[in-house]
Formats: sequence, C-alpha cells, structure tokens
Amino acid sequence: MRLVLLGPPGCGKGTQAKRLQEIFGIIQLSTGDMLRAEAAAASETGRKAAAIMQAGQLVPDAMIIGLIEVRVDQPDCRNGFILDGFPRTLAQAEALDAMLAARHLDLDRVVAIEVDDEDIVTRIAGRFSCSRCGALYHDVFHRPKQDGKCDVCGATEFTRRPDDTAETVRKRLQAYHVQTVPIIEYYRRKGLLRCVDGAGAIAEITEKLKVAIREGTRVD
Ligand code: AP5
Repeated sequence: MRLVLLGPPGCGKGTQAKRLQEIFGIIQLSTGDMLRAEAAAASETGRKAAAIMQAGQLVPDAMIIGLIEVRVDQPDCRNGFILDGFPRTLAQAEALDAMLAARHLDLDRVVAIEVDDEDIVTRIAGRFSCSRCGALYHDVFHRPKQDGKCDVCGATEFTRRPDDTAETVRKRLQAYHVQTVPIIEYYRRKGLLRCVDGAGAIAEITEKLKVAIREGTRVD
C-alpha cells in the first residue's frame, strides 16, 4: 500500500505516520527527517537544505525528488510506504506520478489532515522529540509517561527543532498555503483524496485515518 499524508506543518503527519506504519506494516518516508539527517551529516545537500529549512521555505524540487527516488527503491519499501511531507508542490506530485508509473506502481490513498493555523502554532511551539529514536512529544498534549524518559526507547535526551520558532512557523504556513494547498485539488480530481479533521486526541485521529485509508483501498 502506498499512501500520502498531506497537511500543514504541525498538523500531526509525523505523529500519525509513526502509528500507521505499525498498523499497516509499511514504512514512513519523511522528507523532513531525510533532510535533517543530511544536515546532521553535513553533506552538501544537508548544508544547502539547513539554511532553507531554517528560513521556513521549501527546498528545491529537484533536491527532494532525487532523495525520494533513491529511497523508494530500497528493500524496506517493497510492501509500500507512507509519504510524510512529500509531495509539497505540483511539480513534486507530477514527479511522484512519473516515478511510480516507471515502476508500474500506483498510489492507493492521499489523506489531508486538517488543522486551523492558530492550533498549528500551539502544537509546534510545544513539540520536542527523543534524541535517540525520534519519538514525538508535546509539552501539553503528549508528554512521556515518565517525565524525562522516552516511552519508546527509554532515552533521557530530547531535542527541539531549530525551525520551530514562531517566526519560522508563520513562513512555513505561508509556504504551505501557496505551494502545497493546490495539490489537494490535484489529488481530489484523481479521486484519491480523503480529508480528516486533525483536531482531537491523537488516538481518535488514528482511527479516522484508518477508515479513510481503508475506504476503497486495493488490497495487494
Ligand atoms: P517537515 O519536517 O516535513 O515539517 P512540516 O511539514 O512542517 O511538518 P512537521 O514535521 O512540522 O509537523 P507534522 O505535521 O509532522 O506534525 P507532528 O506530528 O510533528 O519539513 C521541514 C522542512 O523541510 C520544510 O519546512 C522544508 O524546508 C523542508 N522540506 C521537507 N519536505 C519537503 C518537500 N517535499 N519539498 C520541499 N521542502 C521540504 O506534530 C506536531 C506537534 O503536535 C507534536 O508535538 C505532536 O506531539 C503534537 N500533536 C500531534 N497530534 C496532535 C493532536 N491531535 N493534538 C495535539 N497535539 C498533537
């Protein structure tokens, strides 16, 4: 099964993708995580991407398409994948179609998670993650069960993203509305789109996503 999760920064794509990969047995491919890994490794791509991400803008289409094209051919994608953060422009959506067509594959479902801009700022301001395994938490909405200890791997170090400042979040939201919202219509016209209200408890949203994904989905 091949899925795309769409939605504004901080709507819960990463949180939900991690839960859905357990449920459906397919891997999460987060372009944001890939770029942060490149930045941490100080590769040429990473150095270029870090400055763009910090400014709240999208990295060039060619850079991100190249990363995804290599990634989807790896063995852990054989059963399918959940794209989290890609595509984000019409050019990327078209490149994804071409990439899949060249491999005789289809997209099964695109789900847009809807959250108001005001709630986005609150969610992003409180976000932190486990430094070791990347599990996502929130200061108010999703704290580790034991303070200071990751529920998933037990690590005690946590990090906050450098692009999670109020100023950068506003720019990321602007980029979302101008560059990414048009692809919602692109997928609606293809009949692949389902929309899910992203307000509410994390587990409730997972249930709604399961329904949206299974509705009319082919079973391979
Ligand atoms: P990326 O890492 O993809 O960031 P994003 O899309 O801005 O999304 P986020 O990761 O910020 O949020 P999310 O929707 O995953 O929410 P989360 O689950 O963490 O991209 C970063 C940058 O990389 C981009 O700005 C761009 O520069 C570049 N980039 C990446 N892909 C690109 C592409 N394809 N093309 C060009 N450039 C690209 O949740 C947020 C918080 O809310 C967490 O603390 C969580 O615990 C909490 N939360 C989750 N669900 C709920 C809930 N239901 N109620 C309350 N709190 C909740």
